[in-house]
Formats: sequence, structure tokens, C-alpha cells
Amino acid sequence: MALNYRGAEAIVTACEWHGQPAIEKRRNPRSYRHPDLEVRLVAERLRAEARLLERANEAGLPVPSLYAVDPTTATLVMTRLPGDQLEHALRAPNGAAWLPLLGELLAHIHAAGIIHGDPTTSNFIARGASDGDALGHLSVIDFGLGVASNDDEQRATDLRVLLESLEAHHPELNAREPLLAAYGEWNCSADALERLAALEQRGRYNLVRG
Ligand SMILES: Nc1ncnc2c1ncn2[C@@H]1O[C@H](COP(=O)(O)OP(=O)(O)OP(=O)(O)O)[C@@H](O)[C@H]1O
Ligand SMILES: [Mg+2]
Repeated sequence: MALNYRGAEAIVTACEWHGQPAIEKRRNPRSYRHPDLEVRLVAERLRAEARLLERANEAGLPVPSLYAVDPTTATLVMTRLPGDQLEHALRAPNGAAWLPLLGELLAHIHAAGIIHGDPTTSNFIARGASDGDALGHLSVIDFGLGVASNDDEQRATDLRVLLESLEAHHPELNAREPLLAAYGEWNCSADALERLAALEQRGRYNLVRG
């Protein structure tokens, strides 16, 4: 897989690490802040992302393993997961089969005490059949905006970001019901789902008020 991805925050390149397929993610310092401050903020975000990846790994979540962290170049090296961005996989025939797995995975992330911070469909990697009877496998990447927390308000915000990403990119899937049903299987999901309803109500109110 040739991969060279330049996002808002990072440059992501496919590489090898001792012969294993790997990903190098280097944060690019933005120029509009004071350079010293920027270097400190970038280093802090890098450490936070590395810590969350470790935490997720320890909790048994399907995430890349860290190979190396280099604060001087703001670089993470991690395992390269085989598969495709979920955003693409959802467009395949029977793409909707990924939705229950996605809801279940977000619940597992939250149960591990992690708020993802940016759970859009480009931050999940899908692998394997969604078109046969064999179930595919879903992993999660990019904890660059994540925090360690068990706060239901923040869980609700994660849910909202994911629903908005699904509704924006895949309106034909009617993802809401299957996603929330799968998330709701988690026995601690009720408070987050209640917060989500409140968040969305507030959103509509603000819309009406202008
Ligand atoms: N470990 C990995 N294995 C496979 N593909 C990856 C991996 N990490 C990143 N990618 C690919 O690179 C893309 C960008 O990576 P990532 O989401 O981490 O960066 P970003 O979105 O620029 O980061 P940020 O949200 O912090 O700005 C992903 O959508 C995915 O396609
Ligand atoms: Mg990303």
C-alpha cells in the first residue's frame, strides 16, 4: 500500500520497522502560534496520543501497537494495519454490515476509559468480508484528539461526531438506528445516550433560535 497522507495535523507515511509494515505519523507544527509554545503543545499532544494508544492496547482494543515515540521530531511509529478506511468500506456492497461492529467498538473504547475525540469514518480501519457471511474486523486509529475519561457528556460528544460523520458521508445508510442499537448493548451506555439526546435537543434549539 502506497500511503502518504498529509492531514491538518500530521504527515502520515507508510514505512517499515525492522522489516514489519509500519506507519510513521509526524505532527507538523503550525506556524501561527509562538514557535516555543507550539513545540511544547505538539510534544504534549504527541505524548497524550502515545499514552492513549498504550492504554487502548492494554485494554485489548483493536488499535496499532506503538513501535517508537520521538518527541524531538514529533513522530510516532506504529504497526500498519491492513485494510481500508471505514469511509470506503461503507460504500462497498453490504457496507451497512459494518455499523453494528462500529457501535460495539465505540462502546469498547468508552468502556476502556477513553474518549476518542475524533471518531469519524476515516479513523477506523476495516478489513475482511462485509459481503459474505464471514464478519469483517474493525480497528480504530488516530487518538490525536483523545482524552482518558469516563465522562458521559464527552462520550455523548463522541457519539455525536460519529453520527454526524456517518450522516454527512453516508446518508443512504440510515446509520443512526443500527449504530445506537449496538452501542446500547453496552450495559453502561444509558447515561451517554441520554446525554446525546440532550445535546441534540440543544443543537436543534440553537438552530431554531438562530
Ligand atoms: N496504523 C495505521 N495503519 C493503517 N493506516 C493508517 C494508520 N495510521 C494512519 N493510517 C492512515 O492514514 C490516515 C491518516 O492518519 P491519522 O488519522 O492518524 O492522521 P490525521 O487524521 O492527519 O491526524 P489528526 O486527526 O491528528 O490530524 C488514516 O485515515 C489512515 O488511512
Ligand atoms: Mg485521522
